[in-house]
Amino acid sequence: MSEQLELHDIQGIIIRGYSKLPAAHFLLLSVKDRIGARQWLSMILKSITPGDQRPEESATHIAFTFEGLKALGLQHDVMKTFPLEFEDGMTTPHKQFFLGDFAASAPEHWEWGGPHTPAVHILLMLYAKDAGLLDANLDAIRRDFDGLGIQEVQLLETTVLYERKEHFGFHDGISQPTIKGLRRNDNDENCLEAGEFILGYKNEYGQYTPGPTVPAPVDSGNRLPQSSAHDLHDLGMNGSYIAFRQFKQDVPLFWKFMAKATQIADGSWDENAMIKLASQMVGRWPDGTPLVLSPDKDGGKPEANNAFDYRHSDPDGLKCPFAAHIRRSNPKDSLDTDRATSIAIVKKHRILRRGRSYGPPLTAQLKPLDCLNAAETTVERGLHFMSINADIGRQFEFLQNGWIYNQKFNGLYEERDPLIANHHNPQDEKDTGTFRIPREGLRTRITDLPEFVQVKGAAYFFIPGLRALSFLANVNP
Ligand code: HEM
Repeated sequence: MSEQLELHDIQGIIIRGYSKLPAAHFLLLSVKDRIGARQWLSMILKSITPGDQRPEESATHIAFTFEGLKALGLQHDVMKTFPLEFEDGMTTPHKQFFLGDFAASAPEHWEWGGPHTPAVHILLMLYAKDAGLLDANLDAIRRDFDGLGIQEVQLLETTVLYERKEHFGFHDGISQPTIKGLRRNDNDENCLEAGEFILGYKNEYGQYTPGPTVPAPVDSGNRLPQSSAHDLHDLGMNGSYIAFRQFKQDVPLFWKFMAKATQIADGSWDENAMIKLASQMVGRWPDGTPLVLSPDKDGGKPEANNAFDYRHSDPDGLKCPFAAHIRRSNPKDSLDTDRATSIAIVKKHRILRRGRSYGPPLTAQLKPLDCLNAAETTVERGLHFMSINADIGRQFEFLQNGWIYNQKFNGLYEERDPLIANHHNPQDEKDTGTFRIPREGLRTRITDLPEFVQVKGAAYFFIPGLRALSFLANVNP
């Protein structure tokens, strides 16, 4: 029996990705005056969309960095109940090494969230059915900032691309875990305990992920639920964490690399070969069809887009290379000879993805040859990646470090994620990557892989439940 979710207290972005609200802005804010900021919070609280609503017009969500919670006046003894990963953020030398943020992606070059950029305290996520309504909502919200001690750090705009694709031209947002208790039809292997994504519920270990707490006297208004320890109130209940990373995507570089790597002897391009190589790096064809189900040609099986496995259907990686982005980020049955054991391990490292693309597409339909021939521009485009998870260390960080960035993932040697990994680790001999494509009897080795994506800004945010938000708006330091 799954636990009853308190949807009215959970922010709706944890429950759904708002595909029917395609317009979105992410607004980064800082707190200049805590009294005013708390007043602003009390006002915005009324606009936050709970998980039991299915908004058709617009939705608003809010989350806070560790520094942001401090800036609002949360006491030291409350702050220290947050997990260390959240407190450390992503910019310490250890984290840089762990997440693989080197060279152009190093925190000192970030445009926000870095060591030399203005402090980011709050992430406001605005969604709407169209751009007009989105901008009107943004204007209305901005009007209150000045008088109430809130300063805008940066507006991160988003774009909707052709057929729900990301900028390289691949259908994104197909595979998501299902949260148990949401009454959505899915197979058991893809249904995860709610505690993986929402604090206050049992996780895949059958335990409660530790969440932040408040000494009972601090919550004098009794806004928060009682914690399991009798003298503490639960600040984490119905909340979660967001790992937000802005990735710039170099689309011309991506397709030029595919073209060169597959160039025919007479010097011409082979578009089909380019698409195949890129798909082998992703693990799906541009329309979303998994390579495991259709290794040789695009299309045909998007309806079965998640009903596939790896060890059983493709033990030698002949259909989908072991290093492919989706094979690494959700290895399904490949981690153990016993299927159930593998799925149980993988379930402890899944994430909910809520990212949105930004910047104009290089070409309208994102076709490889069009991208190859498009005029060079200096316009930036990419992905505002968002991972929602109750345990930053065990989910986002493990996934990034252990599977995406790990050169020895699943028996590989010297191979990181070909699509998104950074190749500038000071411990590596070279600053480019390698990608091996297993074939019967031999394998193809693609070398000198550049970085197709670059981190431009990043931060961890705590996304509280609605009662916790009301507590934060009224906290007395
Ligand atoms: C610019 C950066 C990125 C791009 C262009 C990208 C692109 C894609 C694409 C095209 C898919 C296939 C669609 C789907 O299965 O839903 C996918 C799946 C996925 N990606 Fe990424 N991704 C990026 C960054 C990341 C990062 C940083 C992580 C995690 C740390 C990640 C984790 C995943 C996961 C978990 C899946 C689903 C795999 C599955 O369940 O089969 N991605 N990504």
